[in-house]
Amino acid sequence: MAGLPRRVLVTGAAGGLGRATLDLLGRREVPATALDLHDPGGLPADRVVTGSAGDPYVVREALADVDAVIHLAATPAPVLGLPEDVYCGNTRATFVVLEEAGRAGIGRAVIASSMSVLGLPWADRLLHPAYVPVDEALPLQLEDPYGLSKQADEATAAMMARRHGMTVVALRYPRLGGPGDKLRQTAGEWAGDPGAGAKELWTYLDTRDAARAAWLALTRPIRGHHVIMVTAPTTLVATPTEELLRRFHPSSQVRASLPGRTAPVDLGVATRILGFAARHHYELSEEPV
Ligand SMILES: NC(=O)c1ccc[n+]([C@@H]2O[C@H](COP(=O)([O-])OP(=O)(O)OC[C@H]3O[C@@H](n4cnc5c(N)ncnc54)[C@H](O)[C@@H]3O)[C@@H](O)[C@H]2O)c1
Repeated sequence: MAGLPRRVLVTGAAGGLGRATLDLLGRREVPATALDLHDPGGLPADRVVTGSAGDPYVVREALADVDAVIHLAATPAPVLGLPEDVYCGNTRATFVVLEEAGRAGIGRAVIASSMSVLGLPWADRLLHPAYVPVDEALPLQLEDPYGLSKQADEATAAMMARRHGMTVVALRYPRLGGPGDKLRQTAGEWAGDPGAGAKELWTYLDTRDAARAAWLALTRPIRGHHVIMVTAPTTLVATPTEELLRRFHPSSQVRASLPGRTAPVDLGVATRILGFAARHHYELSEEPV
């Protein structure tokens, strides 16, 4: 693919991030094929394919005329299905989508990974990162099938990049949402109980920024396989980050100063490789706790 994509396949297109991604492609006048288990109607895509991203026949049909893929289809939490279904469903879909894309000669794909790959968000107990700000090299401490599916997806992406000579970017997203919905609810919860955000390191990203990160990953002049953390530069809570870390992650080595609400995430790779910086910042109305 040289320059802009001719047509993009978006899997999981009916989901929150899928819709934001279709909207972004529409604004850039890039034709999109939407793939999802169900067609809710009204998706802003000129082709809609219904079926599973884990079914090679469905994916082959969806890949017609496509030269780039944004793979978002997944069960996005371990609590949304049986453990074996979450793990096997997510990893099968990623394997099939990337394998079929590679076999079709498609050179560029982006997949949705998650900060859940670190292991903290879905563990029953509070785990602590070895160090902060966390980066792509942080040791993983997985105890749940969803996070494990994302680790496997990242490994699949690396393998497919080598196997097919593709460029594949795995984006590690934090909690996503828009200002009017999930983020407001989460900000309210974490304001009342900052410990509740400790498993997610109080991070977030506006869904529109998440879609833009996927677009940059699809269009930047890069090659090979990349894993990239993309979060907003600040946390979703008023309490200063260093105070939060002292209270809730006292054993984590602090490697850099994190003034104010700075997110305890190293965004250097996102900046260098994608030129990404979040544009939509959640304004807090709550007082420091
Ligand atoms: N929402 C978040 O906070 C968040 C955070 C980190 C990562 N992610 C990842 O981002 C991606 C998109 O998440 P979302 O928030 O839009 O989730 P969502 O649940 O809103 O949407 C997921 C969509 O994928 C579809 N889907 C699931 N399995 C499928 C399959 N096998 N074949 C075809 N379609 C399938 C669902 O029908 C749904 O429409 C997921 O991979 C998720 O794991 C989400």
